[in-house]
Amino acid sequence: MGRLRDRFHQIRKFTNALCAGLEPEDCVVQSMPDVSPTKWHLAHTTWFFETFILKKFIARYRAEVPEYAYLFNSYYNAAGDMHRRDLRGLISRPTVNEALRYRASIDSHIDELLSNSDESLLNKIEPILVLGIHHEQQHQELLITDIKHVLAQNPLYPVFRGRVAATPSSQKLGGVGAAATTFIDFEEAVTEIGHDGDGFAYDNEGPRHRALVPAFSLATRPITNGEYIAFIEDNGYSRPEFWLSLGWMTVNEQRWNAPLYWTKRDGAWWNFTLSGIRPVDQSEPVTHISYFEADAYANWAGARLPTEFEWERAALRFPIEGNFVESELFHPAVCYEAPSPQSSPFKGRGRREAPGEGCSSDLYQMFGDVWEWTRSAYSPYPGYRAAPGALGEYNGKFMCNQYVLRGGSCATSRSHIRRTYRNFFQPEKRWQFTGIRLARDPE
Ligand SMILES: [Fe+2]
Repeated sequence: MGRLRDRFHQIRKFTNALCAGLEPEDCVVQSMPDVSPTKWHLAHTTWFFETFILKKFIARYRAEVPEYAYLFNSYYNAAGDMHRRDLRGLISRPTVNEALRYRASIDSHIDELLSNSDESLLNKIEPILVLGIHHEQQHQELLITDIKHVLAQNPLYPVFRGRVAATPSSQKLGGVGAAATTFIDFEEAVTEIGHDGDGFAYDNEGPRHRALVPAFSLATRPITNGEYIAFIEDNGYSRPEFWLSLGWMTVNEQRWNAPLYWTKRDGAWWNFTLSGIRPVDQSEPVTHISYFEADAYANWAGARLPTEFEWERAALRFPIEGNFVESELFHPAVCYEAPSPQSSPFKGRGRREAPGEGCSSDLYQMFGDVWEWTRSAYSPYPGYRAAPGALGEYNGKFMCNQYVLRGGSCATSRSHIRRTYRNFFQPEKRWQFTGIRLARDPE
């Protein structure tokens, strides 16, 4: 339990550290209904521990500010009423400092509870504490993508963090005119899908079951900005033949003509990053695109998006390494086609440990950089049942009208992602670090 307590404090401190360069004024803005103010993330993650641990396991626990239960509940109906999500940016009190004090106070209550509990109580607390830690890591990623959206509204383009790593240009792939994406073939197989129960996983990653994965090919790397520009320049955004009906409606309603955060200046594309605005680097993986755009790009390219089962099968033998939040780039890094391990700025870069059955080469950047849209609807695995009570609301009730994304991003913690991890968003969402890896059916 000592290790778990250290882990708890480490994760809580990392959330605070992410806010280190932010001013209080930054922390209260809600730039769209999907975005929550930084202050809300600070308080809501704290509410989670207070509600599901302190209130549950301390008989005489009294909240210092009972109204926080209403203000900082997100969507748990079984935990009581909640404030409207789209109005979070109207809440100026508690202040950012009060939210930080709330964090410190709940942290010391958790500490005290862990110190004073016997083994049988600790056994009951542990799974919820672990869930709370993973929940907080999810909110760390949202905090980053949300503050990016907030800062992007500001014509002064504030810098969240200065750039830390320059990437060796000799290793970059070209943009337009780069070698065509190469694909790796996988033979048909019955594959074990889902988490094997060793260590933590969300309930939506199970039950583990067998699935027939017909033969397919998977691209060795994500699609680059340069490749995406070719789609734009081929009028991809104004050719309905590439688009799903709902996607075509969305493109026209929203007047999309490029990924989110891109603007054209003097004929060249620039994008807003967490390190400020800069010219689009054609070698980086394209990001901040919707499912609709990913699907349209795939159609234009004569390919398709992978299913989540294809992705999981391909990812099986890879070490989970790559550009995660720990590298503090807060942006996807350039695509590497076949680097030597020494030339890569990130250990491993998702290199295959050993050649897999039916494969002859390497896949790159399967983990980190950008979440990869799959064509799989987010739905329950065979035999899935949401747990009873409030914590059963964590995943199950969102299994409608969303698509699964795999692999994590530059805003995900390395210790948060798994090969079986199923992220999910509605097909029109663009503010997460979302990108494209193509798949193909056999010739
Ligand atoms: Fe949450």
